[in-house]
Amino acid sequence: MGFVEWFRRAAPYIGAHRGRTFVIEIGGESIDDPRLHGAVHDLALLRSLGMDLVVVHGARPWIERRIEAQGLAPRHAGGVPVTDAGALGAVKEAIGAAHVELEALLSMGVANSPMAGARVRVASGNFVTARPIGIRDGVDFEHTGEVRRIDVEAIRQRLAGGAIVLVSPLGYSPTGEVFHLRAGEVATAIAAEMRAAKLVFLCDRPGVLDPGGTLVRELTFEEAKALAADLRRAGDGRDDDLGSRLELSIHACRNGVSRVHVIDRRIDGALLLELFSRDGIGTMINADAYDSIRRATIDDVGGILELIRPLEESGALVRRSREKLETEISHFSVVERDGAVVACAAMYPYPEDRLAELACLAVDGAYRGGQYGERLLDLVEREARAAGAERLFVLTTQASHWFRERGFVEAGHSALPRERRDLYNFQRRSRILVRAL
Ligand SMILES: CC(C)(COP(=O)(O)OP(=O)(O)OC[C@H]1O[C@@H](n2cnc3c(N)ncnc32)[C@H](O)[C@@H]1OP(=O)(O)O)[C@@H](O)C(=O)NCCC(=O)NCCS
Repeated sequence: MGFVEWFRRAAPYIGAHRGRTFVIEIGGESIDDPRLHGAVHDLALLRSLGMDLVVVHGARPWIERRIEAQGLAPRHAGGVPVTDAGALGAVKEAIGAAHVELEALLSMGVANSPMAGARVRVASGNFVTARPIGIRDGVDFEHTGEVRRIDVEAIRQRLAGGAIVLVSPLGYSPTGEVFHLRAGEVATAIAAEMRAAKLVFLCDRPGVLDPGGTLVRELTFEEAKALAADLRRAGDGRDDDLGSRLELSIHACRNGVSRVHVIDRRIDGALLLELFSRDGIGTMINADAYDSIRRATIDDVGGILELIRPLEESGALVRRSREKLETEISHFSVVERDGAVVACAAMYPYPEDRLAELACLAVDGAYRGGQYGERLLDLVEREARAAGAERLFVLTTQASHWFRERGFVEAGHSALPRERRDLYNFQRRSRILVRAL
């Protein structure tokens, strides 16, 4: 993509993100990686574009190395570090060093650009009050703690002053003790308390993968909950990291964070690609879809008919009888708002041809432009991929541009599966559009 095209595509996102609060967790592994420079410069760039940033960092590899240097072994229980009196010194040193490293990198401004000299202010402080985790299953976690309170007001003040707020995974108790916290939990607590627009986890994973190994671009709140429950049930430690990220994401979404992103920090420019392109590069968990998108059941037939009748009359959709809809209801997904079906879409697989059809995509007039169309398309694409399809096609009379803007290209009659070709209604003169999955 050329520069002009790229800039045009990114520009709307720049406008949409300005003035919003993003909380970003940089996992400890990053601190040890030369690619950290790129990620930190991207943070400076985001700040210069007007985004309010709270960055929470980890320091795990440095902590473990310091503990080992003392001739001790890092201890964990159930994936949580145990910070005994011996380890606490190493924790403070390593986190302090990581903090300084990040501050230094942020002070470089936006390197290799005309903004290299621009001042990026960094603010830190005692924003996090902590309490001890205590004793669990007989293990005393000693100086490992959990978040008790976030000083939102103090963070807001620093953000209003134009600073990037840099937070370490340490918290203080009113009794003056220091507690070692997990960066992901601190980031989640801050995002939830601040009702941040986004919480971003920069991790060592590509995002969430489906069982076939394909990246899932978007998860609804319900899907994230179901996946987290599956992982918990499997409980074999296969993907603890993903499990804990999902639990944190769910907590954030429940507490007013609109979007959570799980992205791969190892990709150069990961943050920019995720925030300024439509498809992104990781997985986004969407809290707005809270309970709203789901598989249709037989009880939805009435609602769907009501939604699509006017569109059938205008010729936008092919006519479907109630009986046909009843037999095919398992192919449908719906968006429900206040008990009414406000959008629907269907997916029909043609496994022999490795194709799938998106059909009957409809959004109630009052809800157009609210991205329901886009989200249903995304859902259908995922279902189609899971059914083994390599391409998705759609027949449309009035929405060909909507699909073309989303990567579909016009195709001839021969692009249809054989059985669908015989049923093609030449009188309707629908356009056939196809997109690779
Ligand atoms: C096409 C349709 C599903 C889009 O739903 P939606 O929820 O409004 O879509 P989104 O919010 O994801 O996208 C909205 C964008 O699409 C544009 N758009 C909506 N309908 C369009 C159409 N027919 N052609 C081109 N662009 C269209 C809007 O202008 C808006 O763009 P903007 O933000 O740049 O102004 C909806 O308009 C609809 O129900 N149409 C009638 C049924 C139909 O034709 N279905 C397709 C046949 S299967």
